[in-house]
This record gives sequence, structure tokens and C-alpha cells, in this order.
Amino acid sequence: MTHSASPDALPHAAMDSYREALEHWRETGQLRRCRTVIPHGDAGESSASTLVELDGQLAINFSSNDYLGLSQDERLKAASIEAIQHYGTGSASSRLISGTGPLVQALEAALARFKKTEAALVFNSGYQANVAILQAILEPGDLVFCDRLNHASLVDGCRLSEARWTRYPHLDLDNLEARLRKAPTEARKWIVTDSVFSMDGDYPDLCALVEIAERYDALVMVDEAHATGLYGDERSSGLCEQFALSHRVALQMGTFSKALGGAGAYVAGSRVLMDTLINRARGFIYSTALPPAVVAAAHAAVALVQTDFQPKTRLWENVAYFEQQAVQAGLAHRFQFPLKSPIVPVLVGDSTQALQASQALLDAGYFVQGIRPPTVPVGTARLRIALSAAHTRPQIEGLIQALSHALPESPDLTGSLPQPESSAGCTRESLR
Ligand SMILES: Cc1ncc(COP(=O)(O)O)c(C=O)c1O
Repeated sequence: MTHSASPDALPHAAMDSYREALEHWRETGQLRRCRTVIPHGDAGESSASTLVELDGQLAINFSSNDYLGLSQDERLKAASIEAIQHYGTGSASSRLISGTGPLVQALEAALARFKKTEAALVFNSGYQANVAILQAILEPGDLVFCDRLNHASLVDGCRLSEARWTRYPHLDLDNLEARLRKAPTEARKWIVTDSVFSMDGDYPDLCALVEIAERYDALVMVDEAHATGLYGDERSSGLCEQFALSHRVALQMGTFSKALGGAGAYVAGSRVLMDTLINRARGFIYSTALPPAVVAAAHAAVALVQTDFQPKTRLWENVAYFEQQAVQAGLAHRFQFPLKSPIVPVLVGDSTQALQASQALLDAGYFVQGIRPPTVPVGTARLRIALSAAHTRPQIEGLIQALSHALPESPDLTGSLPQPESSAGCTRESLR
């Protein structure tokens, strides 16, 4: 008996149907592929974490979520190496069997202090966390209200649950309230939203959202994947801290995989909810715990963003510099200024045109990923520029120049991406 799978041995009709689907995606500009991205050590003038080799070509990386440049930080690397030397490379078991060691316990205690909650729990990835949390906390009869542009992992968590869930238009809190008004008072209700939206770089008026939740006895879950490490004057723990809402949001979820430069995720909240997750979240129960090196790097990153504010300051300076340069270059109409986050979408509309613009930027030495449906709604394909503390001013100037040439001619698209409303007395003047 042979163990090597030969495509010839597989049922032809079934395989042909996959081949046809791939061909269809290729023809309609939807085909995706993994590209080899190698951080370039010998960066010369450029910072090591922004110069990359992409499919053999050198480019400045404007497609990374490493907003603070921490994935290359020596302090995080040292923490990982030390953890491997003490504890080895794997955790060897799921958390409830023998996978809960002192490193993950220390990280969870640090996270609870970071997020100002009773307790916190570590998950293996943001995707796994969201699916597992929602599947665990929702029961038949519950009602869930989601922003239409919530991350796919939140959508999938709702899908896996047996609760009834509905989506309100992006950031439209009046619409959310109208839906809550009609909901049966006796039903348990959750409002689930990204804090910073990964493909739009905007965020809801969280104060107003929490006030609505309180009016209708709803619990709130916020995904701080793209906010952790970037917002909050005291601890940099996210938008819940920035808006002083930590005690009014039932679940604050976030990841170590973006600004914290590592991998894995956390959720913070009450002891009751953490214990519920420990007992019911399948993604937590049935998966091997994160390896020591990853846990140690996450802990080092959580400590670092609370003590070293330099990367955060540099990042927000870069965000302001991008904006200033874009205005000077006459490109302001392509963006929604003022920027709310380091995520800068440039709406193109058509998928093929977005890919062409991305390729033109790459030809000029800038790696800016084109984002297409289904990641974003049909007709809103875009370039997604992700700014980092590690970018230099010449790199930002160069990108703006390249954008002037690479973007397809288009009408003024300002307003095509919805703007968050702000509520008086609640929203902070400046979030930088
Ligand atoms: C809002 C949001 N939530 C969750 C995730 C998933 O996180 P992870 O990449 O750690 O699985 C992402 C990122 O991909 C995200 O953008």
C-alpha cells in the first residue's frame, strides 16, 4: 500500500470542481496566494523591520501589523530565548491537562492588571479566541448585535453559536439602538464590535455604544486586536482604556500578534466570565497551550508598552507625518483625514485595479497589499497601508510620491467609507 497521495487516485469530478473554482477566482481577480516575505537584516539606511524581500524583490513593507516594530525588539527576543532555555520548545498539552505553567499564569495576571479587570485568559490566536469565546458565552435564546464589518473570526463565532445574531450598518449606533429597542427585554443580549476595524482603520464611538448597551441591559464584547499597545495614556492597553470604559465592557479581547509583535491572544473580564470560558470554550479546552517562547514574548511586550512609550510616540508622529505629506501632495481626497489609527485604507473599488495599483507600488519599491472581497465588501477593494513606528520619514515621503503615480484615476471617494460619529462629552479630543 502506498502512502503518497497521487492526484490521479482522487475522484476526477470532485477535483475538477475545485479546479474550476480556482480558475473562476483567477479570472475574476479573486485568487489569493501566499507570497514569500523575508525581513531584510542588512537594511542600510532603512530600519530592519520595514525593509523586506518580497518574492525576491526588495521593498519597504507597508503591509505589516507590527505597528510598533516590536517583532524585532531585542527585549522580546531575549525573553523568548530565556523561556526556551528554561522550559523547552513546547507546552506539550492543552491548558486543562498539563499545559498551564507559571509563564502563562504570570501573563494572565499581568493582563488582568493591564486591562484593569478581575481576570484574563490566554488563547492561541485571535481567530481561535473569538470563535471560542462566542461559541462559549452564547446560548439559544441569546441575541447578538454585531457591526457589519466585524472581523471574520467574530462572524464565525456567532455562526457557530446557537444564538440569534444580527448585523447593524458599520458604526451606525442609531441603527443599533433601534434594533435593541425592538428586542425582547427578557433575552440576554450582547453587542460585539471591533474597536479599531482592521480594514478601515476607524472605530465606533465606544462611549455612546456602551451607554446604549447599558440602556438596554446588553453586555459588550470589544475586539482590541488593532488597538492593544496603541491607545490609552497610562498603560497603552487599548481603546477601552482610552475612553475609561474598562469596568463597563464585559469582555475585552485582544491579540499579541499585531502591535505586541508576537502571536496569540487574550480576553479580559470578570472572574465569572473567565471561568465560563475555561469550562466551555472549545478552542481553549481542546488545543495545546501556546509554547513558552511565545508566552514569554507576549509578557515582555505587555510590560514594554507600559514602560517604554517611545515606539508609540514614533508611530503617532508617523501617522501625523503621513497625513501632512499626503495633503501637501494633493492626495487628501483619497483618504479620510484625520486618521484614527495607523491603518490607512485607499479605496479603489475594483479588485483588479486594486491589484494593479499594489503591483505599481511594488515596482516603485513599496509593499502595500491590495485587499479584495470577501475580506472587504464587494465593490470596496482597496489598498491597505499600515504605518509603523519603524518607518522613516523618507520612506513615508517615498510612499506618498509612489501613490501619486500608482493610484488609478478615480472620482473623489471621500465618504465612501463610513465616518464614525462622535458624541459630545465622551469622545476624547485627541487620540494620539
Ligand atoms: C479584529 C481582529 N480580530 C482578530 C484577529 C485574529 O487575530 P490572529 O491573527 O491573532 O488570529 C484579527 C487579525 O487577523 C483582527 O484583525
